Amino acid sequence: MEHKNLIDLEYMTKEELEQTIRLAGVIKSRPDVYKHACDGKIMATLFYEPSTRTQMSFQAAMLRLGGQTIGFDNPMNSSVAKGENLKDTIKIISSYSDIIAMRHPSEGSAKAASLYSGVPLINCGDGGHFHPTQTLTDVITLNYEKGRLDNLKIGLCGDLLNGRTVHSLIKTMSRFKNNSFILISTKELSVPQYIKDIMDKAGCEYTEIDNLRDAISELDILYMTRIQRERFKSEQEYQKQKGVFVLDTEKLSYAKKDMIILHPLPRVDEIAIDVDADSRACYFKQAEYGMYGRMALITLLLRNEGAFSFNTPDPIIKSGTVCRNERCITNDPQQFYLPRNTYIKNNKLYCDYCDGEIS
Ligand code: CP
Repeated sequence: MEHKNLIDLEYMTKEELEQTIRLAGVIKSRPDVYKHACDGKIMATLFYEPSTRTQMSFQAAMLRLGGQTIGFDNPMNSSVAKGENLKDTIKIISSYSDIIAMRHPSEGSAKAASLYSGVPLINCGDGGHFHPTQTLTDVITLNYEKGRLDNLKIGLCGDLLNGRTVHSLIKTMSRFKNNSFILISTKELSVPQYIKDIMDKAGCEYTEIDNLRDAISELDILYMTRIQRERFKSEQEYQKQKGVFVLDTEKLSYAKKDMIILHPLPRVDEIAIDVDADSRACYFKQAEYGMYGRMALITLLLRNEGAFSFNTPDPIIKSGTVCRNERCITNDPQQFYLPRNTYIKNNKLYCDYCDGEIS
């Protein structure tokens, strides 16, 4: 039977997502029942980019399910340093392991790796593209802390251009009834057009503003994000954006008593440390919920239940067209062998790896 991959939450149906959230809750309340769920199984964690939460929560999740882990957190200590391409690394690692969790700096790298993996592959962040298990973490937290995933006014603040967690969260929350968004960023770091198209198509209301103080009193959720220094072309451009949005106790005094503050973490300076003591600050609990979400996901992927899709439903066209996104994995000369796969949506041609619009 063909295995399943998690490239983006978009490829899970709403029912599958709700099942995963439910299973995370069951595992959290009865961890003893699941402590042998992955006995004899090995997870490979391949982190081509730094990580604390995603990498270690996956490792902790696998160990808590009775499985074991292998992997690297610095590709320069692997044969990647000798020039090994992604295809060869993935083919080899998938013969050593039962499931792979991978983070990579190139957009579309998760889709590319999944073409060569003989085992389920989980996207742990592919450049500024997607970070589905963070979104799983976020929705599990919302479910616990707000008791619902619909009828929410969600403020997203900070680097909305490069924040892959922002893109994945908007896409996912657009699938639930009557959610609306306030997008708080500078013009330079506003959400990409394709994310706005998704909100428009889903009929979700959204506004774009550049002042956190003006929006905070309306929000049910405030999702703060870090300005992603590593995605800027120059240090000068980063310095212009750094420190523009800071949540402090003064601004928080205008928020609803039951608003909750989320942040995928790591934090730099966008949430003042004294906000941590406020009962509305949920970002540390959020990181813990993520481990249970990842335990649920590993369990479901290794069971490979027929009802789960997890894979892209879009028909692939082998057009040979070159992607225009310079951050796309297909434009990395070392990955020259990748087929130039595309797909058509709404009469437009998109890159099948990074979802960049081609024409
Ligand atoms: N939220 C998140 O992805 O954190 P890490 O980069 O530490 O994994």
